[in-house]
Amino acid sequence: MTPSRLMMINILACLLLLLRVSSVTGRLIGGGGDDNQWVKTMSGVKIGKFQKIHVGQHGNFSTIQSAIDSVPNNNQNWVVIKIDQGTYREKVTIPYDKPYIILKGKAKRTTEVVWDDHETVAQSPTFTCLADNVIVKCITFRNSYNNPVNGNRRVPAAAAMVTGDKLYFYRVGFFGLQDTLWDDRGRHYFRKCTIQGAVDFIFGAGQSIYEACSISVLGNALAPNLPGFITAHGRTDPNDSSGFIFKGCNIFGSGSAYLGRPWRGYARVLFYRCFFSDVVEPTGWDAWGYVGNEHQLTFAEYECYGPGANTGSRVSWESNFSWDQVKQLTEMSFIDSADWLYTIPYQKF
Ligand SMILES: *[C@@H]1O[C@H](CO)[C@@H](O)[C@H](O)[C@H]1NC(C)=O
Ligand SMILES: *[C@@H]1O[C@H](CO)[C@@H](O)[C@H](O)[C@H]1NC(C)=O
Ligand SMILES: *[C@@H]1O[C@H](CO)[C@@H](O)[C@H](O)[C@H]1NC(C)=O
Repeated sequence: MTPSRLMMINILACLLLLLRVSSVTGRLIGGGGDDNQWVKTMSGVKIGKFQKIHVGQHGNFSTIQSAIDSVPNNNQNWVVIKIDQGTYREKVTIPYDKPYIILKGKAKRTTEVVWDDHETVAQSPTFTCLADNVIVKCITFRNSYNNPVNGNRRVPAAAAMVTGDKLYFYRVGFFGLQDTLWDDRGRHYFRKCTIQGAVDFIFGAGQSIYEACSISVLGNALAPNLPGFITAHGRTDPNDSSGFIFKGCNIFGSGSAYLGRPWRGYARVLFYRCFFSDVVEPTGWDAWGYVGNEHQLTFAEYECYGPGANTGSRVSWESNFSWDQVKQLTEMSFIDSADWLYTIPYQKF
């Protein structure tokens, strides 16, 4: 081969690699400054063939739960459960001993899981994920007791409870009214998800990054002039690594809502470069059961914009973060200290 031909082949190979790499980063992380780290860590990671299970009218199973039940206990290989479009009327649980499951619907708007349990938040969730290492994509979980808004009394009725470690949600919808998404504990990454509700609708002690998500406030479902609460974080002590971090999210809806109130005494929540419509209460935060102990709380916003982002009337105890503090919490290392996000499957399933 002549040197110029060799060079051509090298250039082609580089181009192909670039294409491959950009589709990888595009799918998982999207634009932004994280790409280089992502690419470096991804290269060389080999993932074997997945087992595929198909849920739908002409699939291996007609319910999602029966597909999950068919996965062997303590499974160590990724299994893809592909779910056709449609409305699935069932409760779905991924038990502790079924890790490495990928639940993949057709789209957030067309594959929907609906149930209407309510009263006790513990047994209400339509979807429960107890296992570690789970990926959920392109699917909606709804608790229909109060969503769509109807004549039913407002009660705790969760759309989902997620408590495993190393969970990744991409284009997933969570629809409820009170306690919609119970982000209980563990490291979680929510990207391009939609979370809808009115009261404490993202709550728990999760250590989570919500990136490019839509946060939809159903304030008009509450009594007139009664504000709702977007978050209720449950950090219990100052050494606890948990926190809810919102990056580049869109906060909008009807009525009004506080950014958060503390479910536990050391709650930690940061909104970073988010759009706030005028749905955000001017005072921003509520101390709930921790009046007098506000200094323990970490509630912050940084470089947010939009009609609700004016901080002139915020509570005096809102945290005033330095850029270094913001950086620490908003970089992927906040949830990815073991690089788990860089080793999960990224192919089209
Ligand atoms: C699912 O159905 C397909 C087609 O009928 C079949 O080839 C495959 O083995 C089935 N998979 C499982 C896990 O049952
Ligand atoms: C937090 O960690 C420090 C240093 O390890 C320790 O002294 C302190 O007791 C811990 N506090 C709580 C509430 O666990
Ligand atoms: C926040 O801190 C910066 C510098 O660290 C300071 O200039 C600014 O006035 C502070 N804002 C408030 C509301 O305290």
